[in-house]
Amino acid sequence: MTTPFPDGAAAPVPPPGCPAHRHVVEPIGPGGLRRLYGPEAEADPAGLYEKLRAEYGDVAPVLLHGDHRAWLILGHAANITALRTPSLFSRDSRLWSAFRNNEIPPDSPLLPVVAWQPICVFADGEEHRRLRNALLDGLNGFDRRGIRRHVRRFTTDLVQLFGPTGQAELITQFAEHLPMLVMTKLLGMPDEYGPQLVDAARDLVKGTETAVASNEYVVASLRRTIAIKHESPGDDLTSRLLAHPAELTDDEVMEHLRAVLLAANESTVNLIADSLKMVLTDPRFRAHLSGGQMTLGEALDQVLWDSPPMSLVAGRCATADTELGGQQIKAGDFLLLGLAAGNVDPVVRPDLSTPLYGNRSHLSFGAGPHECPGQDIGRHIAEAGIDILLTLLPDLRLAVPEEELTWTSAWISRHLTALPVEFTAHEIEPDPESVAEAERATRARAKEERAEEERELAARAAEAAAPAPAATVPAQRRSWWDVLTGLFRR
Ligand code: HEM
Repeated sequence: MTTPFPDGAAAPVPPPGCPAHRHVVEPIGPGGLRRLYGPEAEADPAGLYEKLRAEYGDVAPVLLHGDHRAWLILGHAANITALRTPSLFSRDSRLWSAFRNNEIPPDSPLLPVVAWQPICVFADGEEHRRLRNALLDGLNGFDRRGIRRHVRRFTTDLVQLFGPTGQAELITQFAEHLPMLVMTKLLGMPDEYGPQLVDAARDLVKGTETAVASNEYVVASLRRTIAIKHESPGDDLTSRLLAHPAELTDDEVMEHLRAVLLAANESTVNLIADSLKMVLTDPRFRAHLSGGQMTLGEALDQVLWDSPPMSLVAGRCATADTELGGQQIKAGDFLLLGLAAGNVDPVVRPDLSTPLYGNRSHLSFGAGPHECPGQDIGRHIAEAGIDILLTLLPDLRLAVPEEELTWTSAWISRHLTALPVEFTAHEIEPDPESVAEAERATRARAKEERAEEERELAARAAEAAAPAPAATVPAQRRSWWDVLTGLFRR
């Protein structure tokens, strides 16, 4: 039995005999506490939150992977209190007693999310302000028109690939690509990096055995971009961070760019996927297209309430003994911000079917000092992407009954598995930006080839003219493009 999410869809439970049942993880663990992991929890996270709310109220004790104890904050107000009181609820995960007592093994699946890193995400106070202000100044330099230009270009590129077929699967062929492709442009990365970064970022968060190699690829791409921007700064986030008065080191710039790429990617992919599902299935949106009730922006607001792209944020560490939501929290305890649970707290939403258009008091972007600094960018990528997709494919429709759509869940997020669609097949004109970019790349390649030929000719001429032993040819000064293409060949 599964409990439906507000959008009415239920997550799947593996059938008997499926390998997922081989290592059975019981829903209740030591101390009679409910596990936030295992097949039952992952099949129906919303149902689990409601059981916990009924049993404990606003804050519930739960077990994480490895049966480490944590508090899951379910109440909307209790989440806001934890988010806005960094003196009591710190972002520094090193304060968690499980870390202090060396209880978390090096292969724990919790580590990619909770292990402390020297970035603003895990900092408090003055250090947090220094790093975050640099990021904020960098991100605020982008305007909606500039972002839309990139979104239009990449949406058109992606739709060109499937437009002539009349059918597509919009999660793997659209939603999973668009945010990363746009982000590479905002970071000032060369076009060539985009497709591999999409794959690497997807692999990284899945925690597969290739995750380490994927992380190395992301880090190497960022280091190359930083080297390029030192030589030739541009109007992009990397150059802005390098020039910021906060004087970030190259390592700090790299770590923050990596954090931005990963923070931006998965959450925006989920926002696009769930919003697309809503515009394709909700009659209120269809009514809008024929002069009715719900705009695209309002659909996004509703999704941010009902299907937050991050179900929870892990998390906060208590700096002292305190009380939250009626529970006694001890110094060193770990807390999870239950964004999905807080968004459906009956205190703020007694009737889940009441529309919330224009109401932005959901928890999906957090609140307080760590509130998402990229929310406008994420929202805009999603909104512009869907808008342009619907313009290119005006008769886009779901190719399967809505009841057949499924989600997969992990402890911090929930993903729509597939969104098969159909539409009238047609060729899509290339976006002028892509045409210009392709021409630029062709010109640059031709220039590089000419330079290479000239170097070879000069070397041969010098060889022919000089008596043995051969004279050395003076090295030519490397152009920006030479440096760049040389880096690609490594
Ligand atoms: C649209 C989907 C997005 C959602 C739902 C989302 C959600 C969140 C949430 C809930 C937090 C707060 C975490 C906490 O309190 O500990 C956060 C932080 C953050 N987000 Fe986003 N985000 C989105 C898109 C983006 C984008 C597009 C960027 C970058 C351009 C970004 C960059 C960040 C960064 C750097 C932080 C850490 C801020 C800090 O610790 O001070 N996010 N995000």
